[in-house]
Amino acid sequence: MKIWPFGIGLEDRPLVVIVFLIMAEEENFYIQLSPKPTRFEPVTKVSNVFFDEAKRQVFAVRSGGATGVVVKGPDEKTSTSFRMEDKGTVLSIKFSPDMNILAVQRSHRTVEFINFVDSKVDNVEYSQSCKGKNTRIIGYNWTNDNEIVFITDHGIELYQVYPEKKSLKSLKSFSLSVNWFVYLSESSLLLLSSAPLGNIFNPFLFKQGVNIVKLPKFEVDLPVIPKPPKLSLLERDVSIGNIYGILYIIVLRHQPRGPSNKGAEVVLYQLQKESPAKKTDVLRLDMSGRFAVNVVDNLIVVHHQASKTSLIFDIKLPTQENDNYVNYHYPVLAPLPIKPFTLRVAGVPTAALPDATQVNCELYSPNWVVFQPNIIIDAKLGCLWHVCLKLEPLVTMIPDKCRLIDFLLLRTECKSVILRVCRQALVPGQQCNLATIARMFDKLNHVYRNYLEIEQNSQQVADAGMSRSVYKRPVRSQAVIDQSEMYTHVFSVFDDVKEIKYKFIVAVLVEYMRSLNHLQIPVQHYLYELVINTLVQNNCFYQLHQFLQYHVLSDSKPIACLLLSLEAVYPPAYQLALDMLKRVTTANEEIIEVLLSKNHLLQALRFLRTVGLVEGASARKFLEAALNTGDNSLFYTVFKFFEQRNMKLRGNAKFMPGEHCEKYVKRMEAIYGMKSISVSS
Ligand SMILES: *[C@@H]1O[C@H](CO)[C@@H](O)[C@H](O)[C@H]1NC(C)=O
Repeated sequence: MKIWPFGIGLEDRPLVVIVFLIMAEEENFYIQLSPKPTRFEPVTKVSNVFFDEAKRQVFAVRSGGATGVVVKGPDEKTSTSFRMEDKGTVLSIKFSPDMNILAVQRSHRTVEFINFVDSKVDNVEYSQSCKGKNTRIIGYNWTNDNEIVFITDHGIELYQVYPEKKSLKSLKSFSLSVNWFVYLSESSLLLLSSAPLGNIFNPFLFKQGVNIVKLPKFEVDLPVIPKPPKLSLLERDVSIGNIYGILYIIVLRHQPRGPSNKGAEVVLYQLQKESPAKKTDVLRLDMSGRFAVNVVDNLIVVHHQASKTSLIFDIKLPTQENDNYVNYHYPVLAPLPIKPFTLRVAGVPTAALPDATQVNCELYSPNWVVFQPNIIIDAKLGCLWHVCLKLEPLVTMIPDKCRLIDFLLLRTECKSVILRVCRQALVPGQQCNLATIARMFDKLNHVYRNYLEIEQNSQQVADAGMSRSVYKRPVRSQAVIDQSEMYTHVFSVFDDVKEIKYKFIVAVLVEYMRSLNHLQIPVQHYLYELVINTLVQNNCFYQLHQFLQYHVLSDSKPIACLLLSLEAVYPPAYQLALDMLKRVTTANEEIIEVLLSKNHLLQALRFLRTVGLVEGASARKFLEAALNTGDNSLFYTVFKFFEQRNMKLRGNAKFMPGEHCEKYVKRMEAIYGMKSISVSS
């Protein structure tokens, strides 16, 4: 796209500019321009500027290329400079995706090609004219490294370029009358405007190998049909956007002037493969005049020139208004200007700017050209920015915390902001009520559960497949916030802010666990520990008892161990722990260890019998414990218990050599004499 005629009356002084961002008031803006814009030579009398949307390159063409073409791309690899012969005014210029071929359009019938070998320009040009005598090329786009499509007023022509042969071959063409077109290079989607009103669209998809897929045509309804009919839908009001992974045609719908003007709208048409694109969403702008649209982080950003403000819309946020198939949306927030942008200018002071080293860039300037998905170019200043979203200020702008969480969960860089919002919701002064907190948790855990499910499924698929290497961990978005992140970044506030009441702490944690349970996500034991410790520190043993009894805190070995450690401060915890261990059926070993360590030998023996583990039990372990008590009669009981077991097991009371019980047999003899030892039945 040629950026012209913005250069009228521009001073010729080249600006040598260093850019930096003034840390202005941060709070009141949610949209900003990228702090480091791409700088290029502004449009002047002798230099023309072009922007290639596909490769995001700015071309500054001086004197038709004779005194140089400077290309500024997003990185080193896409930035270059070269000279080419001045063969007339350049109308359009852009590199093939691999940058090996440069296409230059200087007339309405022909496109010229220049090869680049190892980034060096090969000065022998070759060219391709469009078909038909009265055909005019409206524009062209690269659809592949060596494939280019001409869009003419009579249709489209797809060509294969052979750089070695310096020639092109026609691959395919379609005839239909074309007013104008838009192209989205990421999806290789071309949209042609046809019919006298310009409101009939023919979409084409370019695919390597298949060449062209023609999708069903569709019609965009117009607010008024002019009489006689004339082109009413213009290129500047239509763009293509990828929103939440779905392709939409974005149409600005201006209302006719007059008292009934309800303001302009943006209408979204969802592209379909098998059927005509369907109208799915309408964004209510409530303003009229000139607009430009960007798509940033799946939000539709609408810039309004007259009011110098921007609006953001999120089509995934729930909306109250809808009729049959169309959802009506209002802006997420009140319109606000883009954050002011200052350029520091180092250069010779001029009469107009005597000693200014900083220039405030004019926002929403008439020199702005907006490109998809998120680019703004000021041709006069020689600046290319990306439009960015600032999430932090939104936190105070969306008072409804649930809506705020809904909004944040849909953003790419949301994690730290969400964690901060949750943390703040627990701090006295800004504290949310428990019902709101519960709903916030539900929203977070919903996303978390969905991720766990996907992870589990892909694991199962991998397990079922032949090789392990098939397993690809699903992409984890920032919106997936797990228990350990909540523990570390949110619940840590309970430690840091002493004023939070313990009852509130417990209630919040119980809500969080309820939400996890409700979504069938296993609760990590450190959350239980946090609850138990909070209760114990505040002497709420009765409540602890109840939580255990009613299974608010689920049974687990780690929790049982924690309870055991609480015996000193709360003796009933010991029994609670044992009961829990008994319910955790895999914890028999642990129970016996616990009982032995407490010298509750008789209980331990009884437990062995109850769970049917007598046969396999280690006599040595029990005898050692009994010996250590120094209680001879206890030792005697244990000894006899195992003799009986041996008897039952082998018909002989003797210990087997492998049991290493010789020490205890000797001890028995020493205390009670030889006859205390059973030899046989
Ligand atoms: C396609 O070509 C037209 C006309 O040359 C141009 O305006 C547009 O920016 C191109 N689109 C892309 C995505 O490159």
